[in-house]
Amino acid sequence: MLSMRFVVALFLGLAACGAAAQEGARSLGTSTEIKSCLNCHDDPKVTGVLHTAHSVKGDERTKAGSEGCQSCHGESQAHMTKPAEGQLRAAPEVVFSGAHASPVAQRTQACLGCHEGSARTHWQGSQHASADVTCANCHSSHVVQDPVLTATTQAPVCFTCHAEQRAAVLKPSHHPVTEGQMSCSDCHNPHGSVGPHLLVGNTVNETCYGCHDEKRGPMLWEHPPVQEDCSLCHTPHGSVQASLLKQRTPYLCQNCHESSLHNSQPLSGASLPSGSSPSRMAVLRGCLNCHSQVHGSNHPSGIRFER
Ligand code: HEC
Ligand code: HEC
Ligand code: HEC
Ligand code: HEC
Ligand code: HEC
Ligand code: HEC
Ligand code: HEC
Ligand code: HEC
Ligand code: HEC
Ligand code: HEC
Repeated sequence: MLSMRFVVALFLGLAACGAAAQEGARSLGTSTEIKSCLNCHDDPKVTGVLHTAHSVKGDERTKAGSEGCQSCHGESQAHMTKPAEGQLRAAPEVVFSGAHASPVAQRTQACLGCHEGSARTHWQGSQHASADVTCANCHSSHVVQDPVLTATTQAPVCFTCHAEQRAAVLKPSHHPVTEGQMSCSDCHNPHGSVGPHLLVGNTVNETCYGCHDEKRGPMLWEHPPVQEDCSLCHTPHGSVQASLLKQRTPYLCQNCHESSLHNSQPLSGASLPSGSSPSRMAVLRGCLNCHSQVHGSNHPSGIRFER
């Protein structure tokens, strides 16, 4: 019975591709609506959507059984109507890409209508929303596996706009993002957040503690910048210095600690009294050789972070 209806709709669609198809679509209801779009759009690049989370007929929320394509592209009756002689076909109500793309707000609302809340609670006013970035700039709705949802394929989507981070993750020290073991969205919520820089945590540190909890403390002897902001010493995306450091020692330390401290004297033998050796503190100018517990120490005599 139902398949008969499909055949009729298909026939009407192919034969008239206009008012008649529209009529058929309305009176037959359910997934005939999808059929009427598919009459003209049978390119696999388009029909891929039928194999995604948006086309699960058993899931009422997708409206796959009732609205299908229209749940995102809008009613689009005018589009399905045969254009008058010499006229161009009217565009669907919501076009997501290309020269006829709808206004950004309309494209976003087409998705937010079903996806407001949860991870997108802070979408409005977020850096992306304010910069007129829309859902479909990151999401591909017509492919079976949306690349931005998978760790190995997510970053290239971000890199289409964020070239600086693309360069950073190629540096010798980096989080294993290009290796596919981690993704940008482990640290960022691209939909908006209460923290700075779209971070998943309320602060930089809360974000880092998510995986590096051992740095959280409390410690017996704390190093104030560590509790304050990891990014005083580290850069999150990539560095030519080991351990994602912003600078190498001693310069890193000397941003805050006077360079006239014990060990920062240059190894200039000439200025030393004859017979004496340079300060042992100056060896390799490697502050970390001695102050190895730079994140803080729990050792009773670790006040100088040496143990
Ligand atoms: C009668 C044939 C026909 C039907 C039915 C039809 N389309 Fe189209 N559609 C076309 C043609 C032809 C184009 C290309 C128009 C152009 O390039 O100007 C097109 C283009 C589009 C585009 C791209 C628009 C753009 O300007 O980039 C979208 C999106 C689209 N259709 C969605 C739909 C949806 C959703 C439905 C069902 C609600 C549908 N179409 C039903 C014929 C049809
Ligand atoms: C979940 C929302 C959603 C649904 C459902 C949906 N589309 Fe789309 N459609 C999009 C988005 C977003 C784009 C922009 C390109 C992309 O993301 O792949 C698009 C692009 C298109 C295009 C233009 C292709 C191009 O890039 O030139 C056509 C045609 C189209 N859709 C037709 C359809 C048809 C027909 C259906 C039903 C079978 C449908 N869409 C269902 C969201 C949707
Ligand atoms: C009619 C409601 C509706 C509309 C409109 C809609 N979605 Fe969805 N979407 C859903 C439902 C329902 C799911 C399945 C959610 C689940 O399984 O928890 C879903 C799932 C998703 C997923 C997860 C897919 C996966 O494979 O896990 C993404 C991403 C998504 N939608 C993005 C979009 C984007 C982008 C748009 C606009 C172009 C859009 N949605 C429009 C209802 C909708
Ligand atoms: C800047 C890129 C980007 C934009 C813009 C974007 N998303 Fe996403 N979206 C992602 C990423 C990345 C994920 C995977 C998140 C994860 O793995 O935690 C995701 C996941 C999702 C999911 C599935 C997981 C969930 O949270 O339910 C849905 C649904 C979704 N996005 C909808 C939307 C909608 C609706 C919009 C527009 C209001 C949008 N997205 C805008 C990148 C983006
Ligand atoms: C380990 C956590 C982490 C990962 C993974 C991560 N980021 Fe970030 N990102 C941050 C932090 C923290 C900041 C805040 C700025 C800072 O401290 O340099 C930031 C800032 C940004 C900024 C703002 C500009 C700037 O550098 O200040 C952009 C854009 C950005 N990240 C994009 C990305 C992209 C794209 C990816 C994936 C390739 C990514 N991030 C992966 C933590 C991360
Ligand atoms: C279509 C282009 C586009 C895509 C794709 C995109 N972004 Fe953005 N992003 C922007 C723009 C524009 C801004 C706001 C201006 C700025 O700060 O650079 C922004 C801002 C950000 C910020 C906040 C910067 C700050 O200093 O507060 C982060 C973090 C970020 N994007 C991460 C991502 C991640 C992660 C992805 C991939 C999941 C992504 N973006 C995909 C265009 C994009
Ligand atoms: C989602 C988990 C996760 C988050 C969140 C995270 N990291 Fe990492 N971090 C890792 C992983 C995984 C590695 C690699 C460990 C390895 O290679 O053994 C790593 C390595 C590092 C390294 C050593 C890099 C090297 O080259 O040796 C530093 C430093 C670091 N993270 C700092 C940070 C900072 C700062 C933040 C917050 C901005 C942060 N991490 C957030 C998972 C995370
Ligand atoms: C005062 C500068 C400074 C601050 C602030 C700082 N770190 Fe570090 N971090 C370093 C140095 C220096 C190294 C290299 C240690 C070495 O080579 O022995 C390092 C190494 C690391 C490593 C890799 C080696 C290890 O110990 O696991 C991780 C992970 C790390 N830091 C995470 C963090 C996190 C998370 C924060 C914020 C809570 C933070 N760091 C704050 C200076 C700092
Ligand atoms: C962002 C500033 C900052 C950076 C960078 C920094 N420190 Fe500190 N450090 C501090 C502050 C603030 C204190 C606490 C000073 C106090 O209590 O008088 C401190 C305390 C110390 C102490 C204990 C001093 C004492 O008086 O007990 C040592 C040792 C130390 N830092 C070593 C280092 C080393 C090694 C580095 C480089 C890897 C470094 N610091 C980088 C700000 C910094
Ligand atoms: C050979 C071991 C050694 C090296 C290398 C070393 N320190 Fe120290 N540092 C010490 C010892 C021991 C003390 C405590 C005795 C003292 O006050 O002189 C100390 C004390 C400090 C203090 C506490 C302030 C003070 O004067 O008491 C700071 C800050 C400090 N070092 C920073 C650094 C920085 C920055 C570097 C690298 C430029 C560095 N140290 C390299 C062994 C070392």
